[in-house]
Amino acid sequence: MKRDLLIGLAVGLVGLALVVAAIGLGYIPMPRFGAEGGRSSGLVKSALKVGGPFTLVDHTGKTVTDADFRGRYLLIYFGYTYCPDVCPTTLQTMTEALDLLGEKAEKVQPLFITVDPERDTVKVLADYVKAFHPRLVGLTGTADQIARAAKAYGVYYAKAEPSDPDAPYLMDHSSFVYLMGPDGRYLTVFPHGTTPEDMAATLKDVIDNRSAP
Ligand code: NI
Repeated sequence: MKRDLLIGLAVGLVGLALVVAAIGLGYIPMPRFGAEGGRSSGLVKSALKVGGPFTLVDHTGKTVTDADFRGRYLLIYFGYTYCPDVCPTTLQTMTEALDLLGEKAEKVQPLFITVDPERDTVKVLADYVKAFHPRLVGLTGTADQIARAAKAYGVYYAKAEPSDPDAPYLMDHSSFVYLMGPDGRYLTVFPHGTTPEDMAATLKDVIDNRSAP
C-alpha cells in the first residue's frame, strides 16, 4: 500500500512538472493579462495622471470649468486655429468619428482648447468651430489658464518664431486626442494619425461597456 502511494505521488509530480514545462514552452495556451487581448485592447492606459481641473472661456464667451462637462464623455484636442494642417485634419477626424457613432455621439462632447490664446479669441474660435462638428466647443482663456489646462493634460506647445518677421507665427504643439469619462477621469488617448473608423470603434466600445451613470 505504502509503495503504491509513493509511485502514485511520483507519477503525479512528474505529470505536474510536464504540464508546467508545457505551459512554459508555450504548448498550452494560457490567458494573457495586460494591454493585449480583450475588449479593452483599443485603450492605451497611462501610468501618468492625465487631466484635471480647468477654467476656460468657451466660444460664446461663457466661463466654463471641467465640472460643467460631467456626465458626458469628453473628446479633447489642443491646437490652434491658424494651424495649417494638423489641427484641421484632427478636428475633421473627430467630426467624422462622431458622425460614424450615430445617436451614441450625443454622449460625447468634443472640445477644442487653443494653445494660442493670443490670436484665438472668443470671436475667432466661434467662426472656426463652425467648420467642424456642430457641437464642437472651442475654449480659450488667459495665457495662464491655457498653460494650466495644457499642463494637466501633458500637452507641449511653444511659439515658433518665423524666419520672415512679417509672416504669421506658427505654434509647435503635441497632437493627441484625449478621451475622458463622464466622471472626468482619463480613459484613453488617440495618437496623431488615428482614423475616424478606429476612433469611432473605440468610442463605441467604451460607451457600450462603460455607460454613463
Ligand atoms: Ni496644429
